[in-house]
Amino acid sequence: MTNEPLALHGGAPAVTDQWQQDWPFVGPEEIAAVTRLLERRVLSIYDRSGIVAEFEDAFASYHSVDGKTPLALSHSSGTSSLHAAYFGLGLGPGDEVIVPTYTFLATVTPLLQVGATPVFADLDPANLTVDLGSVESRITSRTRAIVVTHMWGHPADMASLTALARRFQLHLVEDCSHAHGATVDGRKVGTFGTVGCFSLEGHKALAAGEGGILITRSREVYERALMLGHFGRRAKDEVLDDSLRRFVETGFGHKYRMHPLAAAIALEQLKRLDDRNERRRVNLEALGAVLAPVPGVHPPRTAARMTRGGWYGYKPRYAADELGGLPLARFMTALRAEGVKVKEPGSPPLHRLPVFRLTKSTARDLALPWAETLPVCEPPLWECPIADEVYPQLMSLPTFSGDCSAVIAQYGRAFAKVASQWRELL
Ligand SMILES: Cc1ncc(COP(=O)(O)O)c(C=O)c1O
Repeated sequence: MTNEPLALHGGAPAVTDQWQQDWPFVGPEEIAAVTRLLERRVLSIYDRSGIVAEFEDAFASYHSVDGKTPLALSHSSGTSSLHAAYFGLGLGPGDEVIVPTYTFLATVTPLLQVGATPVFADLDPANLTVDLGSVESRITSRTRAIVVTHMWGHPADMASLTALARRFQLHLVEDCSHAHGATVDGRKVGTFGTVGCFSLEGHKALAAGEGGILITRSREVYERALMLGHFGRRAKDEVLDDSLRRFVETGFGHKYRMHPLAAAIALEQLKRLDDRNERRRVNLEALGAVLAPVPGVHPPRTAARMTRGGWYGYKPRYAADELGGLPLARFMTALRAEGVKVKEPGSPPLHRLPVFRLTKSTARDLALPWAETLPVCEPPLWECPIADEVYPQLMSLPTFSGDCSAVIAQYGRAFAKVASQWRELL
């Protein structure tokens, strides 16, 4: 097989299985749950009741630790849940927040909304989450919080990060948008930090269509977060804090409520999350096993005592030096000709992106509300050499769900075939 002509050069493609991604999964339960609400004309819920309360309760229980259940607050998106979390923590102008450079941009952009300053930390090449040493090196007297993302479903090193946060009295925020149901020593991600935030966007492991949710053990953070996007009846019912109560009618300027139909879908998805995580685990570990012997290809590994959840992406690393310097783009072109669905990974490192490099005057010209928090001269570039090196070496493969053993075996053969003929591709 490995000696057969490459499909790029007219040979037969290695992948012939007509596999179709069944993601996002929409089954009869989701359809029935949405239909039930539509028949009852439930299209908006102002307070914490009905399907929204049911979903929040179920999500909170799913994240119970030692019998203690966190508070859960649903949102219209993961981005709004992160905004509410940062507002809930009271982060604002003058506060530095250490964030991973390798994450989706919405982990960080809501910090701009509250006027806090993102400080970028490098990545750990072993699992693509944030590097502990880099985080520690960024701590100053102005640091108030550390944000971590459980990237592509792999938990960050929560034991070390919680210890670091405790040592410097910093808040820890977990962006769990890739990693619903992932665990460290059996404990779910989202339960280690002061707040855990989850996107429930339509391609996530727990999809509402559009939606988000935060969990926290802190009543104070919960009430402040609630005030940002759940004004009116819900705030009146739930906000107890004296300093906030007089603002319950208006809240603080956003409407971030979750759509009831989205809550209905999410509740059904939650019931099957563990099963579906397990199916992806089996498939993607099988994929890792067939890719591991292929020169030039380093499949993601999961650290001991952790389980991946969510599996929002599967990103093997390419080592061109093992294939005579064959450029990744050429390797991927040959794989695509073989029928492999491979592409460049999304989410480039953030530390060089223009929105994080603004000066006060440019931001004023753009009428950005956080302009006054920015420096007069260009802000420092946070060097993240590992992210700069590793990101361009990543490939993105499908996160197989369902019964995929045939296509996974064919992917293994396609990779082996292309890698073994690298000389012909140079
Ligand atoms: C890590 C991460 N954080 C935040 C978000 C934002 O979530 P949403 O699209 O629901 O606003 C996403 C969405 O892909 C994400 O991947």
